[in-house]
Amino acid sequence: MKDTRVLLGVTGGIAAYKAAALTSTLVQAGAIVDVIMTAEAERFITPLTFSSLTARPVYTSLWDAPERIPHIRLVREAHVVIVAPATANILGKLANGVADDLLSTALLAARIPIIVAPAMNSAMYEHPETQAHLQTLSERGITIVAPESGFLAERESGVGRLASEERLLDAIRLVISSGNGVLRGKRVAITAGPTREPMDPIRHLSNASTGAMGIALAREATARGAEVTLILGPTALLPPAGVRTIRVVTAQQMFDAAIADATGADLTIASAAVADWRPAEQSAQKLKKSDADLNVRMVRNPDILKTLGERKGGTFLVGFAAETQAHEENALEKLRNKNLDAIAVNDVSEERGFGTVENKLTLLFAGGEREELGTGSKPLLAARMLDAIAKRMEAAK
Ligand code: PMT
Repeated sequence: MKDTRVLLGVTGGIAAYKAAALTSTLVQAGAIVDVIMTAEAERFITPLTFSSLTARPVYTSLWDAPERIPHIRLVREAHVVIVAPATANILGKLANGVADDLLSTALLAARIPIIVAPAMNSAMYEHPETQAHLQTLSERGITIVAPESGFLAERESGVGRLASEERLLDAIRLVISSGNGVLRGKRVAITAGPTREPMDPIRHLSNASTGAMGIALAREATARGAEVTLILGPTALLPPAGVRTIRVVTAQQMFDAAIADATGADLTIASAAVADWRPAEQSAQKLKKSDADLNVRMVRNPDILKTLGERKGGTFLVGFAAETQAHEENALEKLRNKNLDAIAVNDVSEERGFGTVENKLTLLFAGGEREELGTGSKPLLAARMLDAIAKRMEAAK
């Protein structure tokens, strides 16, 4: 980070105070930080905080020293601009080319990498308009560091907390080191959710997966500029806006979609909980109830990931292992059998994993390395997982 020139845009949200801690960390790491604050940000924190931390002037208006044309100069002098926290307002302005204050004009003039770290109430974040703006920004090559789930200022829980300082720093490092992030422009395929194996028109065999883990991965990969295809089993959860989503029901349908869309992808992540068997016969009519027991003959479903492993080519292939015992041993066996580059192990014995908000993951790599991703919300773990995978993909280049 030494001598990296970072332009930090601070907008008006409660998380503005966290931008001060980020500034301090950047300065301690040797970065030269210039700060632009919007008028709304000044309601939450004062310019004095930032000027004390950076030992540099803080910019709040286009008109303070107009002869120095600050909105052009600041983005020409910086290597990267990060807006943290980024309100729904600044995202909307940036997506629509609105330039009515120093920060929005500077962003419009920027020819350097832009990172935005949204932070807001979950209803605002999940609003289709905000998601559409994020999609537009992502398509333009802007790095989005997705917010995290947890306690919000409104004293409720939801997605919308500013990403951790660690993730913000990772995003800056990644943008600086690779010019614009290793997943940018890459084709990523993700399977998610359960499959449903029908016995008759109203009965089926399935499992408790909700698709949340895969949806979080799809959202995060999209935010990093990847071109994502999400192959999603039956779930009430909505896929992220702007992600190409193929809805499937059965394992066979998921198999067909994955073979068509994941073959040749740069990165494929199989987070789906695929039914290993299906009823051999499917009745066209509702099975009539009787007093007798019912024996259902089950036949094997195709193994999607194993088939993708057999046709891997240059794809970085990642599986999941949901285990209740001998977690790593079983996961490593799957990694080898399915010819994977990495496998994410979740311990599903402690009411974690299927359908839960939190998960706990360890990522094991084919080369023998491991990365503890820790315990956290699925969006947080998705971000950590993609950080770890991006590092390996970068190293393998
Ligand atoms: O969806 P959520 O509610 O958010 O829950 C997330 C999760 C717990 C489902 C997820 O984190 C997870 O662990 N997914 C994999 C669950 C699983 O069934 O694993 P498995 O050990 O049976 O399969 C190993 C791997 O092979 C998985 O990547 C699976 O997608 C893949 N597989 C398995 C069988 C099959 N027929 N085809 C496959 O592709």
